[in-house]
Amino acid sequence: MRYSISELTQLIKDRRTIAPNDYTDRPVERDVIERMLGNAIWAPNHGMTQPWRFQVFTGEALQRLSQFMGEEYLRTTPPEKVLPRKLENLKGRPLRTTVAIALCMARDPKGKISDLEEQFAVACGVQNMYLTCTAYGLGGFWSTGAVLTGEGMRRFLGLEGEDRCLGLFYAGYPAIEWPKGYRKPLADLVKWVEP
Ligand SMILES: Cc1cc2nc3c(=O)[nH]c(=O)nc-3n(C[C@H](O)[C@H](O)[C@H](O)COP(=O)(O)O)c2cc1C
Repeated sequence: MRYSISELTQLIKDRRTIAPNDYTDRPVERDVIERMLGNAIWAPNHGMTQPWRFQVFTGEALQRLSQFMGEEYLRTTPPEKVLPRKLENLKGRPLRTTVAIALCMARDPKGKISDLEEQFAVACGVQNMYLTCTAYGLGGFWSTGAVLTGEGMRRFLGLEGEDRCLGLFYAGYPAIEWPKGYRKPLADLVKWVEP
């Protein structure tokens, strides 16, 4: 055994999604953010394309992000379909966090690795970010949806070619009790294929 399996399992099971509404205003320190991203880039990736790219929003940049998200939702949603709660969530989350990270994916110019596999690699990196958050006592929140992953977001972030944004990752010190998780029993999810 090279590491403590019980500690590793505890960390994995303890990882929780906590949204900005439940963060305190204590800033997430820059070295913590750097550690999160430094761990993200050690995720597996097919062909060593290392497709993860990050844009880190802090301070006033969070206000620009909030404004963009509100405007983009209204631009892309027919007026009769606008949900005030969704608009408020999109605009409000960047204002209730001290850091938001755009999770971007860069396509390899050679195009040898499929778009889907590049997304998988970024997702593996996001799990590393989540686990790093857990170790620091931070809640993380991977937020997706059309506004965060669409063409407008690509333009807002200045992404080129086939590069795109796979969502935002918020992190913050929780103002609430650490949430309990739930998963189905393993036996319901596994089929052992045996002779
Ligand atoms: C790819 C991906 C996208 C997600 N997008 C959202 C989202 O847009 N909104 C949201 O409330 N939660 C989102 N989540 C978080 C899930 O809601 C959360 O992981 C799930 O409820 C399980 O809770 P846990 O992470 O605390 O175990 C996303 C999770 C993943 C993996």
